[in-house]
Amino acid sequence: MPDEDVFNRCAARRTLLLGAGAMGIAVLAGCGVDEPAPSAGGNPGASSTPAAPATTGGNPFDDSGTGGGAGAQVPDNALVAVGEVPVGGGVIVKDTVLVVQPAKGSFKAYDAVCPHQGAIVDPPFDGNPVIMCPRHNSKFKVADGSKVEGPTPSGLKSIKVGVKSGYVVRA
Ligand code: FES
Repeated sequence: MPDEDVFNRCAARRTLLLGAGAMGIAVLAGCGVDEPAPSAGGNPGASSTPAAPATTGGNPFDDSGTGGGAGAQVPDNALVAVGEVPVGGGVIVKDTVLVVQPAKGSFKAYDAVCPHQGAIVDPPFDGNPVIMCPRHNSKFKVADGSKVEGPTPSGLKSIKVGVKSGYVVRA
């Protein structure tokens, strides 16, 4: 009977839509409950560092003392997570500190303000043993910050650092 077929098809469609609606609600409920908030400033490269709280949303650049997720132990004098400093390169942290890692596990830090006219030097990369100042091309040794060439009257000031809890810290 044609009317009965139409009824059955409509009933099947209603059942299908109701089921899809329930699934949609279930999916929405699942999204809002257990998902952690996105990490602010998280660094995918730091995920291999066991103690680096950067993977938990911690921010080693935050001086407020409120950063870090539950269980994060960011030392007070932290400059940067170890995993955020490339081997054979460096990073500028806290606006004026250059942290370098010339060899794996060996860290040094310098005042990144060029002694010539105060520009911030560029971090070295790809194993280059020289730190460049972009303003007038003064060059400094990664190994000790000393002047190589250029108009700078002196080398970069050293900052004593160590490693603690997965962070490069001021010594
Ligand atoms: S400011 Fe760096 S070389 Fe002049």
